Amino acid sequence: MALNLDAIGKKIGPISKDYTWKDAVLYALGVGAGFSDLEYCYEKDLKVIPSFAITTLYDVMPEAMGLTNVNLAGILHGEQELIFHNPIPPEGTMTSEGRILNYYDKGEQKGALVVAEAETRHSNGQKLFTSNMTIFSRLDGGFGGENRPREKFEFPDRDPDFMVDMSPSEDQPLIYRLSGDTFQLHVDPEFAKMAGFEKPIMHGLCTHGYACRALIQSLIPGEPEKARRMNCRFSRPLYPGMSLQVQIWKTGEGQAVWRIQNMETQEIAIDNGLFEYGDVPKDEVRFDNKVAVVTGAGAGLGRVYALELAKRGAKVVVNDLGGARDGSGEGSSSPADQVVEEIKAAGGEAVANYDNVATVEGGEGIVKSALDAFGTIDILINNAGILRDKSFVKMDPENWHAVLDVHLNGAYNVTRPAFAVMKEQGYGRILMTTSAAGLYGNFGQTNYTAAKMALVGLMNTLKLEGQKYDIHVNTIAPVAASRLTEDVLPPDFFEKLKPEFVAPLALYLCSEKCADTGNVYNAGMGFYNRAAIVTGPGVVVGEGKEIPSPEALAENWEKVKSLKGAKTYFQLNEQIGDLMAAFSQPAGDAAAAEPAGLSVAEVFKNMPNNFISEEAQGVEVVFQYTITGSDGGDWYCDIKDGTCTIASGKHEKPICSLEMEDQDFLALMSGKLPAMQAYTSGKLKIGGDLMKSQLIEKLFKM
Ligand code: NAI
Repeated sequence: MALNLDAIGKKIGPISKDYTWKDAVLYALGVGAGFSDLEYCYEKDLKVIPSFAITTLYDVMPEAMGLTNVNLAGILHGEQELIFHNPIPPEGTMTSEGRILNYYDKGEQKGALVVAEAETRHSNGQKLFTSNMTIFSRLDGGFGGENRPREKFEFPDRDPDFMVDMSPSEDQPLIYRLSGDTFQLHVDPEFAKMAGFEKPIMHGLCTHGYACRALIQSLIPGEPEKARRMNCRFSRPLYPGMSLQVQIWKTGEGQAVWRIQNMETQEIAIDNGLFEYGDVPKDEVRFDNKVAVVTGAGAGLGRVYALELAKRGAKVVVNDLGGARDGSGEGSSSPADQVVEEIKAAGGEAVANYDNVATVEGGEGIVKSALDAFGTIDILINNAGILRDKSFVKMDPENWHAVLDVHLNGAYNVTRPAFAVMKEQGYGRILMTTSAAGLYGNFGQTNYTAAKMALVGLMNTLKLEGQKYDIHVNTIAPVAASRLTEDVLPPDFFEKLKPEFVAPLALYLCSEKCADTGNVYNAGMGFYNRAAIVTGPGVVVGEGKEIPSPEALAENWEKVKSLKGAKTYFQLNEQIGDLMAAFSQPAGDAAAAEPAGLSVAEVFKNMPNNFISEEAQGVEVVFQYTITGSDGGDWYCDIKDGTCTIASGKHEKPICSLEMEDQDFLALMSGKLPAMQAYTSGKLKIGGDLMKSQLIEKLFKM
């Protein structure tokens, strides 16, 4: 059976694991802790060894292997990276979610690499760690994929700064296996012989735990919570009872490299180790294991976004066609290549892409670059741009279309395939780039301003389509010095308008931390503010009964155009709700409305008695009610052929869903809170077919 190539990007989990302090101590004993590091072994003020993270993998790995269809007869744990975000508490539930990132083909005889990642959160809500696993599959090579580029890894040409001798006991695997890896190779002498070993071997991850203790002891004694990242390659098996030496070199502030030597055979058992440590920056915006695509990232703002994302852990696709300011010319690979070099020189990961965003194939090619290099796409910044300014009469179709093609169609071309991947994986952050010129107008830029404002429209709907899949879509209106603005902005201003001032906003909007979706922000020189389309309260002219004359409208003009008390809408339904509310009878303060003296459950029980059957002829609708608060619950009301059936629970296919707090619901049902008022004040949330909700007041006596 061959590797399942379609598994790339597929989700692993969520997988939850409950644990108590005893599990943490058992792990500590399994990796050799004892009275010398009692803080890992005594429940009083217990500290959990960060590499305890590994114990979640014993559930994550089998699911990953199942998805990939890897040949289990030939697999070895190749490499392991742990990124620590927060210390692991002594008890609780750890929930891991991940995905298959990529496959690499080392050749038919040499095998394949399967790369997967998982992120683990604690039941206290904190993100604990991210785990990147590389499985070496000896029997799955030769499927025609790309080989992984070799990464250079060098140990300093001097003696290690720390050498920590450790001696796991002959029986060590018998304790370690109780933390989750019960594979026979580590316990059953017969099985071990069949697999070609003299006797059961150490778990590689047990030796890894020894290394973690040694690293903490040498570099951050007594402060395991300062471990930030641990990475290594498993190179040789070990027998229990052999003495080991963990060799550690400090390579910079908060950084070290390490390896483990088997002191009996002199072989290196774990190689290419990296360790990072230091204070966990509070609320740091990080993009570890996130894959970002930035279009037009060879220069200007895009370049800075790409550099900053990579500095904070993102793997970046640097797209740039390398054309002239007006989009003309052959294009060149050099701007994108240079930015990739800059990212790599700073220790980051990036690949270049030279596709043209203005074509459908170009957009697909850009997203393919991300999938090929890094297995997915989490962040997309639509940034590529050109200018072709002309006053309107001189704005010939060529200049009109060229600008719309790059800005508007470009965003469509790249976002569409990216959105498909994000939807599948249930996560995404998309940024559109508009412009103050588009938001407010600028002489000579009809093509540009039309395209830039259209991007706000694209965002408005995409944010709704992405909501269910944790895809956020926002828009940035930057002001920055670049070749696009060099002849527009006064020179002394130009100096102060570093693109670096815009990047923090772009990064925050693309981060997990930012809950916004559907918002537009201006950014420049360190000044940031929100821009929005607002709608005034308006006025009904002619009471909605007769069609008003233009004169009547003119008479009311100040009220029509007033923005006093204006508000923003998240979607069309809200505006329609206000339109309808403008015609409903004014009601008293809903908060003052008293419930009818019935419980919510009693109201639902009574509902069929208040049903006006004659009004329901030909009506077919299912209302799903979600009532929050201590008196709440779920009920649905199924109306068909003039009958009304009420049942508790959730209906499979409701037509219209209504969510309210228990007290508001009682006020609504007793007629004290008009439905429209409840809706416009946010007390009633309606999903599905909004129009059908209008029927409630008609079908039931309130
Ligand atoms: P820039 O010219 O320095 O960078 C834009 C990059 O996009 C260039 O490297 C260019 O080669 C690339 N590009 C152009 N067409 C492309 C295509 N078809 N496919 C792939 N790459 C392409 O410009 P800047 O100022 O960094 O602009 C970035 C974005 O910000 C643009 O969308 C621009 O309209 C917008 N913007 C910039 C403002 C500013 O003050 N700099 C103001 C408002 C908006």
